[in-house]
Amino acid sequence: MKHLATKLALTALTLTGVSACNPHGRNTTKLQYMPDMADNPTVKTQESYLNPPDGSVTINAILYPESPAQAEQELRNPFGEGPQVSQDVRTNGKLMFDTYCAVCHGLDGKGKSLLGDAYPVPIPDITRPELVARKDGYFFLQISNGGNMMPSYAHAISPHERWQLITYLRTLQSPQPK
Ligand code: HEC
Repeated sequence: MKHLATKLALTALTLTGVSACNPHGRNTTKLQYMPDMADNPTVKTQESYLNPPDGSVTINAILYPESPAQAEQELRNPFGEGPQVSQDVRTNGKLMFDTYCAVCHGLDGKGKSLLGDAYPVPIPDITRPELVARKDGYFFLQISNGGNMMPSYAHAISPHERWQLITYLRTLQSPQPK
């Protein structure tokens, strides 16, 4: 009887010892005698430490409208539209346009690319009446997303500058005495 008790105790000790020293990572037994380092609450490779609630967005996310129509409806140029826009805003807008857009659309926006005929598709005149009628949000989305053969400029032109650029584009669309 005494023998049996000792045997049982020894077996129990050996079993717990084996489970605690599992060399293959996580413990799989419920009873942990000495939890090992692989089995702790740190974040493992490819694992997310936070399960964000549904509908969360990153704090610096910019949510763009889904379609040009929606952009025209929802987005407003913070600098306002029309002649009241200050000259400074337009000057910076011109800097942006000349830097990023003129290479393809031409300095006057009429589509005569500075690249000549090198571009594989025709480049549209963005001063034509059909586009004059579009609201600023349309241009904002086009600059942000790009098109089929037009790159996105969201990485290069901040939202603030995109609106400035659009106020300058408006002057190209309806040339005013300078
Ligand atoms: C690398 C050449 C290239 C550059 C640079 C470029 N575009 Fe474009 N853009 C195009 C092409 C090509 C199209 C025709 C649609 C398409 O293929 O995406 C287009 C289309 C557009 C349209 C829509 C025209 C329409 O007919 O509806 C607008 C607006 C526009 N661009 C504005 C801009 C502005 C503003 C910039 C500067 C931030 C710019 N683009 C820079 C090539 C360019």
